[in-house]
Amino acid sequence: MCGIIGYVGDKDAVPILMNGIRRLEYRGYDSWGLAIIQGEIKLMKNTGKISESGSNSFGLKGNVGIAHTRWATHGGVTRENAHPHTSCGKEIAIVHNGIIENYQEMKKSLLAEGHKFTSQTDSEVIAHLLEKFYNKFKDIKKTLLATVKRIKGNFAFLAIFQDEPDLILGARKDSPLVIGVRKNELFFASDVLSFVEYTDKVIFLDNLEAVMAKKDSLKIFDFNGREVRKGITQVAWEAYDVSKKEFTHYTLKEIHEQSSTIKNSLYQDPIKLTKFCKSIKVAKKLFITASGTSFHAGLLARHLFSKISKVYCEAILASEFSQVMDWVDKDTVILAISQSGETADILHAVREAKEKGAKILSIVNVMSSTLDRESDLTLYLNCGPEIGVAATKSFTAQLALIYLLALTTVDEVVNINKLKRLNDYVEFILEQKNKIMNIAEKYKDSSDFYFIGRSVHHPIALEGALKLKELSYIHAEGMAAGELKHGTLALIDERTPVVVLNPKDQTYHETLSNALEMKARGAKIIGISNLNNEIYDDLILLPQIEELLYPIIEVIPLQMLAYYMAVNRGADVDRPRNLAKSVTVK
Ligand code: AGP
Ligand code: GLU
Repeated sequence: MCGIIGYVGDKDAVPILMNGIRRLEYRGYDSWGLAIIQGEIKLMKNTGKISESGSNSFGLKGNVGIAHTRWATHGGVTRENAHPHTSCGKEIAIVHNGIIENYQEMKKSLLAEGHKFTSQTDSEVIAHLLEKFYNKFKDIKKTLLATVKRIKGNFAFLAIFQDEPDLILGARKDSPLVIGVRKNELFFASDVLSFVEYTDKVIFLDNLEAVMAKKDSLKIFDFNGREVRKGITQVAWEAYDVSKKEFTHYTLKEIHEQSSTIKNSLYQDPIKLTKFCKSIKVAKKLFITASGTSFHAGLLARHLFSKISKVYCEAILASEFSQVMDWVDKDTVILAISQSGETADILHAVREAKEKGAKILSIVNVMSSTLDRESDLTLYLNCGPEIGVAATKSFTAQLALIYLLALTTVDEVVNINKLKRLNDYVEFILEQKNKIMNIAEKYKDSSDFYFIGRSVHHPIALEGALKLKELSYIHAEGMAAGELKHGTLALIDERTPVVVLNPKDQTYHETLSNALEMKARGAKIIGISNLNNEIYDDLILLPQIEELLYPIIEVIPLQMLAYYMAVNRGADVDRPRNLAKSVTVK
């Protein structure tokens, strides 16, 4: 999940690259680095976050350069393992996002040929392969094609050559690489967000494509060397304010943005929406697949498509999709849900399903992401870039869009209109900030949290647990409320906080009974409900809304609880340790 960026143009590359990797930090922040051509190749790299390195340019200046922010997969978090990596003679520098699956055998063979390695990463082999073939061919295109043919795994890499000081190379297989286009300037990056303030005109490199570029010439070709013509897309995010505004963290800003993003997700092209719903309704087999938070949205989708649309379907974790691959055929519809549209587990599942003739529907936030471009039909969340690593606004946007799909399949216009007014109730939750902060303070030293809910509230319980874990590093478990008595109850004692998702709907009384079973063993019960009850030690009040729609609203207090617990514990809220926003490795 690293982030890469490159620049070739008339300006000084250093501030553009530094700004770019700050914007890409959500993809990984173990270490950072940049390489600039200043006669020879000059490097600057370090562990930690670029945003903590101050804003100086380290005395570097030049018009061609590459930069990287790392999420380590091969080799520890050290300065030596930070990208960029260089060839033996330091005449070639590369940055890489992905995993080189055959790096050990290639490293062994390159070492035998006399190459000297300085890192434990898989990525460094790219620099030495380029060096090997450049020394052999003295031709950049042949060098690039020979190199990409030797690499197995997934990659998006950029490279600069000291002997070709106005040139930048790149290639992608399964990891994203986009090109920003401007007169006498070109930007290359993992994500449009890294250069969107300079240009909104973008070329999306497709899989198995490579690029050779100078500031005023751009050549794109496939891995067989055949030139490829690409269109220029105008992206819609240049207007989005990517600053934190008055908020301390992007995560808090994005929690607050839900008062508008829930509604924005409902603005869908009616023709596409109708086609999407029809594909769901007529599917002989429907598999929903996603990861992490998006999978929790997928679980709710399974419930709603079954109960409302009367469509039988299964929700399968993307990383476990092989379990059902035998059932996938031309009569199968896959619904892939992904905020980034770059999650490797999902892309792998979708590609295998496509090979078996399945139709791919996807719900994504990032337009022109790999999943978007590889799907037969895509609906967009329209919630703007989500910078905080923990998914918040994208989750409620996913839920709202899933409700819209389910209700549209049966023309439930009354509930669709209620759905369109739901964002009016977000403020009702946000206004309970002080109460939620007090609850976070009260339980900040807890070592284990439980979140329980029944039916449509079960996926939200799972999401509440994930949010707390990834933001505050407190262990948490989400469970179906009826499941506790089958074993987990043994863990409950007087120190255990339990969050109970229990608005007044058809699950209310049974969930209350489950909460009483935990209360009887001394648990502290935190109620999330529109009704108070004496068993609650704490209550976060939900508004009185259409009971069908509670899952969208009831997750917001859980997001806020996780956020304030993280702040209390001094965690890095926007960049939780060990994580990254887009998991582009399997
Ligand atoms: C959610 O808070 C996490 N950041 C993570 O579980 C995320 O939902 C998961 O990696 C899937 O990402 P995607 O939606 O971009 O595919
Ligand atoms: N595999 C490379 C490394 O460990 C890149 C990792 C990534 O893309 O997250 O440095």
